[in-house]
Amino acid sequence: MNESIQKLKDWIQESDNIVFFGGAGVSTESGIPDFRSVDGLYNQKWDYPPETILSHSFFNRYPDEYYRFHREKLVIEGVKPNRAHIRLAELEEEGKLRAVITQNIDGLHQAAGSKNVLELHGSILRAYCSRCGRKYPADMMNYGTDVPKCSCGGVIRPDIVLYEEPLNDGIMTSAIQYIRNADILIIGGTSLNVYPAAGLINYYNGNKLVLVNLSETPYDRYANLVIHEKIGEVFGQI
Ligand code: APR
Repeated sequence: MNESIQKLKDWIQESDNIVFFGGAGVSTESGIPDFRSVDGLYNQKWDYPPETILSHSFFNRYPDEYYRFHREKLVIEGVKPNRAHIRLAELEEEGKLRAVITQNIDGLHQAAGSKNVLELHGSILRAYCSRCGRKYPADMMNYGTDVPKCSCGGVIRPDIVLYEEPLNDGIMTSAIQYIRNADILIIGGTSLNVYPAAGLINYYNGNKLVLVNLSETPYDRYANLVIHEKIGEVFGQI
C-alpha cells in the first residue's frame, strides 16, 4: 500500500465525522462513462452537444430528441456498485461516515447500502409529470420509444437537475452543513468543474481535505492529501 493511501487509512481509523463528495468518476469502474474524460459523454459525437441536450430549454423544445439521448446514454443496463460505493456504505455503517454528497444520478450509492445520500443533481431512478408533478416509475421513462405522457397530458421527465435549472435549496443547505462540520472531507471522482456543486468544497474548515481523482483538479493545491489513482482501487485498500 502506498504512503498516501496508508495516511488516508490512518485518518479514517481515527475519525467518526467523515463526509464524502463525489462525481461521475466514482461510477466509471461500474461501467458508467464520466462526462469530461477522453472517453466521457461530452467527448462522444452526437447530433447536438450533450450539454445542450441535457438542458431545460432543449428538453421542453425537443423531448423526443432528449429521450433518444437519455435512453441511449444515461440508462445503462446491469450496472452495479463498485468497491468505492461499497466501502462508503461500510464506513457509514461503522458510524464513521456522516453523509455521501453526490453529483451522480445513477443511484449506485443507495444500491451499495448507503442511507444518507444527498443527490445534488437528482436521480434517473425517479420520474414525474412536468405539468402536474405526479410521480411515475422510472421505467416508464427509461424504456420505450415515444415521449412518456402523464394522464393529464403533460410530459413525464426525469427527476434530475438539467442545465438552466436550480439545485434543490434544502439539499444544498444540508450538504453545506455536513461539510462545514466535517473532520475529514474526501472528494472523489469529480473534475470540480461544475458550480454550484464544486463550490461546496469552500465550506470545509478542517485540515484533512482529501482528493482521490485520476486527473488533476483546480482544487488539488488546496488539498491536504491528493491521490491520483482509481477510486475503486484506493477504497478497496482503506
Ligand atoms: N477513479 C478516480 N477518478 C476518476 C475515475 C476513477 N475510476 N474515473 C474518472 N475519474 C475522474 C476523471 O479524471 C475526472 O476528473 O473523475 C472526474 C470526472 O469528472 P467529470 O466527467 O467532469 O464528472 P463530474 O465532475 O461528476 O461532472 C459534474 O457535470 O455535466 C455535469 O451534471 C453533470 O454531475 C455532472 C457534473
